[in-house]
Amino acid sequence: MRAADLVVEGASQVVTVAAGRAGPARGRAAMNDLGVVEHGAVAIRGGKVVGVGPTDDVRRAFRAKRRLDADGRCVLPGFVDAHTHPVFARWRDDEFARRCRGESYEAILAAGGGILASAKALEGTPEGALVSHLEAVFDQVLLHGTTTLEAKSGYGLTHEAEVKSLSALREAARSAPLTVVPTFLGAHALPAAYANRRAAYVRLVTDVMIPDVAKRRLAVFCDVFCEVGAFTIRESAAILRAAKRHGLLGKIHADEFGDSGGARLAARMKAVSAEHLGGTGPAGIRALARAGVVPVLLPTTSIFLKLPKKADARAMVDAGCAVALASDFNPGSSPTANLSLVAALGCSILGLTPEEAITAITRNAAAAVGLSDRAGSIAVGRPADLVVVDAVSYVAVPYRLGTNLVRDVVRHGDVVVRDGRRHAG
Ligand code: NIG
Ligand code: FE
Repeated sequence: MRAADLVVEGASQVVTVAAGRAGPARGRAAMNDLGVVEHGAVAIRGGKVVGVGPTDDVRRAFRAKRRLDADGRCVLPGFVDAHTHPVFARWRDDEFARRCRGESYEAILAAGGGILASAKALEGTPEGALVSHLEAVFDQVLLHGTTTLEAKSGYGLTHEAEVKSLSALREAARSAPLTVVPTFLGAHALPAAYANRRAAYVRLVTDVMIPDVAKRRLAVFCDVFCEVGAFTIRESAAILRAAKRHGLLGKIHADEFGDSGGARLAARMKAVSAEHLGGTGPAGIRALARAGVVPVLLPTTSIFLKLPKKADARAMVDAGCAVALASDFNPGSSPTANLSLVAALGCSILGLTPEEAITAITRNAAAAVGLSDRAGSIAVGRPADLVVVDAVSYVAVPYRLGTNLVRDVVRHGDVVVRDGRRHAG
């Protein structure tokens, strides 16, 4: 018998999301194959998975120091949220109310609200207050089953405030039991101070901010909001080229409101992922598939902003893309970090199957943040990040619209959520 620190046993299903070849699940057949072990168990040692199989077999093979009885519930990989903007100083419920009365998101931004209002609020907020805010956000994120979180700056829009945002993120992540992947998004909006000096702001991003952020190792990725009203294709290309020169991986906010060529740019620049994509047409989809760029779709944002065009998720899956879903958690366009809700809308709004939606918030989301070998599936040798949901079948996750079924969360072998509450581990 082998020793295990923890055995999670008695599960109705262990959904490994590890079928077939390693790496993202591309296309329809792979995305629909969840690698389910019925009546399963997972053995963990030193924070890693050391055994997966039917509970009877795992019990025979491992002597467990501790056991977690899933008691007929379903076990999945810890969820991976591949796109969030959590570093903000205040909520924007005032703008939500204005939009409900008929004002548009773009008009509010053009009048100095939106991202610019968040930047103003962040400017006067000390780093310590941002850290406290982030610690509370991370607790919420964990309670919803997310164990890996991509997190963007982008409400700073000055060198100092962008560095403050990323430093706060690093500080909050140090003590939190989740994996945070930091992304520099200095090109999120043109700050008011540069209203008539676009080129100067782009140069500040490419020549000052990116080199400094990279030197201090404050980010893994660099993102840019490529959109009419934000940054053009040429500006975005310059920013991603500078990022690459300094060792940052590329992401693009592309085609959120219309087909502005952002998806094709992501393919040309060999970005790891392209995000939003509501306006992306067939040529853009083909380009993403050919280049192996992960499309990250954000259905809560489509609903929340009442965007007229939704991402063509079916065409993307059928073109052979490794489609991911994410929350876009932020105070303006998606104030939720509930990935089960995102998966539900992935099915009911974007037309994915339940299996595709689960793959999209686990294995493919891990690929979108460059962690294919470390997150998003349950397999021997991988870090032991898992969730136990209060349901017999994984289908409940996208089916029980808006309900948080997450009961227990294990992160790197530690129980960090128990019976729906944060647990010391
Ligand atoms: O992904 N599109 C750009 N950025 C965010 C919105 C940020 C905000 O409104 O504060 C998004 O939707
Ligand atoms: Fe976003």
